[in-house]
Amino acid sequence: MFRKKLIAGNWKMNKTPADGAALAAELVTLIGKLSDVDIVVCPPFTALEAVGRTLDGSIVKLGAQNMHPDASGAFTGEVSAPMLRALFATHVILGHSERRSLFGEKDAFINLKVLSAFKNQLRPILCVGESLAEREAGSTLKVVQTQLEAGLEGVSKEQAASLLVAYEPVWAIGTGKVATSDQAQEVHGFIRGLLTKLFTESVAQRVRILYGGSMKPANAPELLAQKDIDGGLIGGAALEARSFVELVNAAAAAK
Ligand code: PGA
Repeated sequence: MFRKKLIAGNWKMNKTPADGAALAAELVTLIGKLSDVDIVVCPPFTALEAVGRTLDGSIVKLGAQNMHPDASGAFTGEVSAPMLRALFATHVILGHSERRSLFGEKDAFINLKVLSAFKNQLRPILCVGESLAEREAGSTLKVVQTQLEAGLEGVSKEQAASLLVAYEPVWAIGTGKVATSDQAQEVHGFIRGLLTKLFTESVAQRVRILYGGSMKPANAPELLAQKDIDGGLIGGAALEARSFVELVNAAAAAK
């Protein structure tokens, strides 16, 4: 089954609107009309509008890094799916390990966000992954299974076909310690098997499963050559146009 590779940049808490627009402009110039890879950038909320304007007319899509499950209401400091849609966002990262570990987000809450994203025509990038202690205890697959099953509760087959999953081993995020391609492929293959059980074989074959955690131009080709690795969710290397575009090129070469 052919799956178009996808490279997504998670800018985290970096870039003002002006800095974000400048980076987006560089990306548009360097990427041009290349269309054999799907590309998404996820700036902080405050830069979404400026970056979105810069990306207008290009093939690069706009994503957010989080959102609240409700459409509106008394939720100080939060942003909703309709608000993101109004800024022309098409994707949203949900359940990132930093949200889970630093801000106490649990699977049930992440699940509400996933359902809200689908309801509002946003494609969720659902992040799952084990900590170092969990890997050392041999519970990687169990942790990933729990996060995936709980995060996707109530999702229909039709919705699941446009789902994106990101496997991000927590110990590899921002640490420079990348999972080996065998370690990553093992979990990616396991996730695809779970998607088959939860939905259908044909849905599971359509879902793109991204790897995240210190993915860089140097290690990307080997990771992207694995049969169930369909792209990357990139933190550090997405903050600079050259390295991000090198990753896009690596994905184009890997297809
Ligand atoms: P990293 O971050 O590429 O800096 O490790 C990835 C992520 O957290 O999405």
